[in-house]
Amino acid sequence: MGDALSSSTPAAVPAHIAIIMDGNGRWAQRRGLSRSEGHRAGTRAAKAVVIRARELGVRHLTLYTFSRENWSRPKEEVGLIFDLLVEYMKGELQNLLDQDIRLRVLGDFDGLPFIARQSLSHVMGKTENCRAMTLNLALNYSGREEILRACRNLVAKGVKPEDVTDQAFAAELYTAGQPDPDLIIRTSGELRLSNYLLFQAAYAEFYFTDTLWPDFDAGELDRALAEYQGRQRRFGKTGEQVTG
Ligand code: FPP
Repeated sequence: MGDALSSSTPAAVPAHIAIIMDGNGRWAQRRGLSRSEGHRAGTRAAKAVVIRARELGVRHLTLYTFSRENWSRPKEEVGLIFDLLVEYMKGELQNLLDQDIRLRVLGDFDGLPFIARQSLSHVMGKTENCRAMTLNLALNYSGREEILRACRNLVAKGVKPEDVTDQAFAAELYTAGQPDPDLIIRTSGELRLSNYLLFQAAYAEFYFTDTLWPDFDAGELDRALAEYQGRQRRFGKTGEQVTG
C-alpha cells in the first residue's frame, strides 16, 4: 500500500467505486491469444480487484460486466462471457461469504440466459445478509434504459409531478438504497462513459488509465485511490466554500 493510502482516514476511501473493465480483447491480441483468453484473464483481474476493494473498506463496488449493447458481439463470445460468469459464481460463492460480500445485479435480469439467472439467483440468495461490501455486477445494463424504466415506474405508480424528486427517482433505479459512485474508473485508454450509471455519475470523480483490464491489479486500484484522495470534490461549490 502506498503512503497516500496508509496515511488516509477511513472517510477518504470512496464508499462506491464503479469500474468499466475495458481492454480484454486488446490484451489478448497483443499476446497472440484468443479473445476468450482475454476475458478469462479479465475475470482473474476482477477477482483480485474485488478482494482489494474489500480489504480497503470500499462498501460498494460495481463492475460493468455486460452492457445491453454487448449482445451485438459474436454469439460465441457472448456465450463465453456468460460461461465465465457462471464459473465465477460457482468458484467464488464461498469467498464472497467468507468476506461478507453481498452480490447484486444491476440491469435487465429477465433478459439474461437461464443458466446465468439461475447461478446469479443462487449466489444473491446465499449472500443477501452479507454486509461488509456490496458487489454489483452490471449485466444486460443500459443507463438510458435504467432511467426510462424509473420514469415508467413512477408514472405507473401515479406519482404526481411535484413528487418526482431526486430521492423518489433514485429509489426506482437498479442502485436503489446504494450511494452514488464516488469514483468511476475506466481502463484501456478509452475516455467514454458508454451508457454507464448515467444518473448516478452526476458528481463522480473519473479516473482513466491506459492499463488494459487484465493487467489492472491491486496496485492499480491503490493508484486510482491515491489519485482520488488528492482530488478536491466540490459538488458545485467554490474551492473556498469546500476548504473554508
Ligand atoms: C471488455 O473488454 C470486457 C467485457 C465487455 C466483458 C466481460 C468482462 C469480463 C469477462 C471480466 C469480468 C468477469 C466477471 C465474471 C466478473 P473488451 O472485450 O471490450 O476489450 P477490447 O475493447 O480490447 O476488445
